Amino acid sequence: MDMRYREGEIARVAADAVIVPVVAGDEVTGQPGVAPLDEALGGELGRLAADARFSGKRGTTLVVPTLGRLPARRIVLAGVGPRAEIDADAVRRAWGAAAIAARDAGARSVVSASPPSGGSLGPRAALAVAIEAARLSTYRFTRHYGEGRKGDPTPREIESITFLGDLPKAESQAALRRADAIAAGVALARDLVNEPASVLNPVTLAEEAERVAAASGLTIEVLGPEKLAAMGADTIVAVGKGSANEPRLIHLTYTPDGDGAAAGSTTATGLVGKGITFDTGGYSIKPYEGMLEMKGDMAGAAAVLGTMSALRALDCRRTVHAVLCAAENMISDRAFRPGDILTAMNGITIEILSTDAEGRLVLADGLVYAARQGVGELIDVATLTGAAMVALGEGTTALFASDDRLATDLLTASSAAGERFWRMPLTEALNEKIRGQVGDIKNTGGRGGGAITAALFLQRFAEGLPWAHLDIAPSARAEKSGPDGPRGATGVAVRSLLTYLAAEGH
Ligand code: BES
Ligand code: MN
Ligand code: ZN
Repeated sequence: MDMRYREGEIARVAADAVIVPVVAGDEVTGQPGVAPLDEALGGELGRLAADARFSGKRGTTLVVPTLGRLPARRIVLAGVGPRAEIDADAVRRAWGAAAIAARDAGARSVVSASPPSGGSLGPRAALAVAIEAARLSTYRFTRHYGEGRKGDPTPREIESITFLGDLPKAESQAALRRADAIAAGVALARDLVNEPASVLNPVTLAEEAERVAAASGLTIEVLGPEKLAAMGADTIVAVGKGSANEPRLIHLTYTPDGDGAAAGSTTATGLVGKGITFDTGGYSIKPYEGMLEMKGDMAGAAAVLGTMSALRALDCRRTVHAVLCAAENMISDRAFRPGDILTAMNGITIEILSTDAEGRLVLADGLVYAARQGVGELIDVATLTGAAMVALGEGTTALFASDDRLATDLLTASSAAGERFWRMPLTEALNEKIRGQVGDIKNTGGRGGGAITAALFLQRFAEGLPWAHLDIAPSARAEKSGPDGPRGATGVAVRSLLTYLAAEGH
């Protein structure tokens, strides 16, 4: 989808659809974008809106065909809610819904009025949010559709959206570039999660990371089982042992452009992603229903890779190391078993109670490896526990952090980015539940506080650095389509991490 920006009048442009914002509470036909269109239609636009009780409520839309009376073939009215409440979320919901409405009506070429701004939302930021929302809401994963399903479920895709406005060229171009990079990063994460495990395994994920590195100016190193074993990274090797598809530790590095002093002035960040390309549970095998969506158990790694892909375009000012811990948790005569004892890279020994608590195992080595890259803080992202889903419900990411500054900054970034994060406690007393009998620690802590004991387990491998853990098991998949995107992979955490790492003004 092509995004453009130019000056122009909404009532004069030719397009399959024009998107016009409507503020709730104000007279619909009196609004600057609506008035000239309503006039050209002899007041019929206002009457149709009234009939439909369309009042500009946030995220609602009304599609009105113009039947040859305007150069634009359809009008999409996009509700942004009351004037006093216009913020990034209002613009996001409105343009997310409006792009879907335009696409579903069959529009190929779309022209949009400028999104409203005000308060802390400047015109350039509003533009970036609108572009991002339109791209994310209309995302689809159709790669595996056969000939007969082309064009299903909607007749066609939007080819271009042209925003009308009078921002200086440099500003509009910056907003376009920024939104493009973010949306592409989210789409990459979604594609990887939606891709079946027959296509995406640790080896092909590493190949994909190589392509991303080449395209986005990152360095990359990929470690297989021999190198991992030589390094003492027992846990990734053990989890991956049951599969013919070998495990991989994928290390990508982003170094900012420009002078070294500026580059070294902020601490480097380490991002670690859980990349279980399929989780059968191993010998602690999952039941039918539990295994259904386990091709998506690499959503943490996908989010980290999506984030890395956009850092250069966003001109991030700090060094970022990414570690993707990729393995396939399968069953065979070589697989690891309950009762086994593993030694992580930092020497901590782990008693395996359940081979299904494999995410924390691969992350253990990944965290230690990342810590040794000289980073000043660590953030891991993982579809780690069903318990997080039970605690928070679909759509909310569980945030754990050893450091209040990091927690606050990530929460702030997530709300600016339009993702829901909720901080959970690292209840120290629960450490007792993972104390080992034969080894140092156990890999499960029982039912109560399952997301917390998993986080406490990871904390042992953060090597004393400020560390945050994002359990995205509740948020990596959407069960329903919505204004953020269709059912399936959400690409969660990419937008928040990018906002945290590369917010404007950083
Ligand atoms: N990948 C799962 C967690 C998960 C569950 C993610 C549902 C997304 C949706 C993880 O590896 C797992 O199996 N966790 C176990 C841990 C338990 C054995 C301590 C769980 O949550 O049941
Ligand atoms: Mn598991
Ligand atoms: Zn898992």
